[in-house]
Amino acid sequence: MTQNEMKKAAAIKALEFIENDTIVGVGTGSTVNFFIDALASIKNKICGAVSSSEESTKRLKAHGIEVFDLNSVDVLDVYVDGADEITRHMAMIKGGGAALTREKIVAAVAKKFICIADDSKQVAVLGSFPLPVEVIPMARSYVARELVKLGGDPVYRQGVTTDNGNVILDVHNLQILDPKVLEAQINAIVGVVTNGLFALRGADILVLGCSDGIKVIQ
Ligand code: 5RP
Repeated sequence: MTQNEMKKAAAIKALEFIENDTIVGVGTGSTVNFFIDALASIKNKICGAVSSSEESTKRLKAHGIEVFDLNSVDVLDVYVDGADEITRHMAMIKGGGAALTREKIVAAVAKKFICIADDSKQVAVLGSFPLPVEVIPMARSYVARELVKLGGDPVYRQGVTTDNGNVILDVHNLQILDPKVLEAQINAIVGVVTNGLFALRGADILVLGCSDGIKVIQ
């Protein structure tokens, strides 16, 4: 199977976790795009979705799936999203698509986080993928200096503005041995909106597309 076939297989498998008459939390990215396309096949059985980005909202609406404002939703049973890296402890790096803040908000509301990914995303230690940090524009240089103090090499993602009007610093050369601690440390820097470590609230279920089939890890 190609990488895209593995992503698509994981996305289709994730439909098994969607209950009838519920609102589904939807992430962002190429794996999630396969999930949105699959979700369209059961759109008459669900109430609709809450989306984590303008990109996903557009795709959901194009399929005729109603998109709800998160503020109007009390309960989300599941949130389905991809990852840039994931460990066996279900800690993730996310934000390759710059949607990390809204992803983290929707994930916080959901009872279950279902991560869908191809097996290239599984790692022993997080950090080979540069860690995205969403930053208020005027704080960019200050936050970058603070990230250097934490041992990273931040690089400004040129030409990218998030859905929230902010910028992204991608932090290279981190070997993240304690993701929960680093997640909290980076979020405590003034000017940081959030960072792409999803460890304090990691995934509950990993649906992994592998060359020899699908693995569901809980
Ligand atoms: C977007 C994300 C994505 O989930 C992550 O980048 C994985 O993307 P893809 O499914 O395209 O590999 O966090 O902000």
